[in-house]
Amino acid sequence: MKDFKKFEEIFEEYTNRYINKEDIDEGRKLNFSNKKIHSYHVRDNILEIAKAENLKVDMFIVEFIGLFHDIGRFYQYDKYETFNDAKSQNHAKLTIKVLEDEGILNIIDYEDRPYVVDAILMHNLQDLPRLKDKKMYLYAALLRDADKLDGFRSISVAESKDSVYFKNKSDAPIISDRVYESILNKKSVYKYDLTTILESQIVALGYITSDINFRTTLKLIKENDYTKKMFEKMQDTPMSRKIYNFVNEYIDRRLCNEEE
Ligand SMILES: [Fe+2]
Repeated sequence: MKDFKKFEEIFEEYTNRYINKEDIDEGRKLNFSNKKIHSYHVRDNILEIAKAENLKVDMFIVEFIGLFHDIGRFYQYDKYETFNDAKSQNHAKLTIKVLEDEGILNIIDYEDRPYVVDAILMHNLQDLPRLKDKKMYLYAALLRDADKLDGFRSISVAESKDSVYFKNKSDAPIISDRVYESILNKKSVYKYDLTTILESQIVALGYITSDINFRTTLKLIKENDYTKKMFEKMQDTPMSRKIYNFVNEYIDRRLCNEEE
């Protein structure tokens, strides 16, 4: 049974259990709704990237992992009131548990399930491991790109101070040397011990040089002017400006095929 519409029905039914809870306050409702919006955007992004890249992948699986990759977020936030995995539980593992417990994974053919499970389990790792299985790599890389791409969108539109991700962080205009050096070396940064809002923002910008796999994703970042929109949200310091320029130059170089 390959019924794309069914995905949405299942997704809506499950997520609305949390959103429509009787005693829910506005803040929680908004956080749940944002996760729902995020999931739909990631679904649209992953389909767009996979099509544009003309990849030999099963679009049914692509759509499934896009829409359902974060479904564990609802249980996570309901139970712990945070999206911080370090302070609660790994939300990718929670996603797999929900997909299994709810029987949702059964929509996927048995032999394809490892692709779904592993792509989701790898979507929130700091780095994508080297994968020998080309198809596995494609699903995992697509999901990470689609997820990051929507992260850039949501940062671009968010009222930064209110973000649940900035809770308990200071607004001092500080980027630590560890973060700064990692980004300029195109390395990923461990994100759970960041102390300032500016650091969180700059780490998000740094994903572009450390963690974007497909040219199409970079093209979409450029077309949507996400780096500028993200930079406008943060404090303009010598370090943040240097990283902003570095990231923009990287995008242009990769789009001209000078750098892979
Ligand atoms: Fe996630």
